[in-house]
Amino acid sequence: MHVFQPIPIEQLEFNPFTTIGSDWALVSAGSKNKANTMTVSWGGVGVMWGKNVAFIFVRDTRYTKEFIDNGDFFSISFMNKEYKEQLNYCGSHSGRDVDKIAQAGLTWNYKHSIPFIDESSFVMLCQKLSATRLTEDSFISADIKKWYPDDNMHTMYIAEIIEVMAK
Ligand SMILES: Cc1cc2nc3c(=O)[nH]c(=O)nc-3n(C[C@H](O)[C@H](O)[C@H](O)COP(=O)(O)O)c2cc1C
Repeated sequence: MHVFQPIPIEQLEFNPFTTIGSDWALVSAGSKNKANTMTVSWGGVGVMWGKNVAFIFVRDTRYTKEFIDNGDFFSISFMNKEYKEQLNYCGSHSGRDVDKIAQAGLTWNYKHSIPFIDESSFVMLCQKLSATRLTEDSFISADIKKWYPDDNMHTMYIAEIIEVMAK
């Protein structure tokens, strides 16, 4: 396992539109005993309630959601482009059916017992502040409904970024 060093959040520089939207990331939660991860390409970072936060959107059916809901923390692992195949795998297989990390050839690492991906280039450790399930009555644009043909709704998690780490 690699040693990750904490970096001051003020020194973090990345383009959220390409790093999240195009390069994707892995959201992980659970414990050293059992954890799960899934690919995300929606979400963001910003400031809320006076804290530096990340927000992610997780559909009802995701196995990872159970791990996020059962604990106080999750991580967001950002990967270099060379890991696109692994990200594709973790975004198209469920941890209910396979040991995704093993099958994708990735490795767990932990900080404060929070699981993250050892192959990542940088990681955000996040502490949950709120969980809000989006429902149809929150949609203003009718276009949004097309994303929910089967009521598999997103829960928005806003979480404080308690640590940023890089190799
Ligand atoms: C590029 C990409 C981006 C994704 N983004 C999200 C996302 O933001 N939220 C979400 O709920 N699912 C997203 N998914 C789908 C999950 O990663 C996928 O359903 C995964 O298999 C869930 O695994 P799990 O059941 O082990 O949690 C994405 C998939 C891909 C390939």
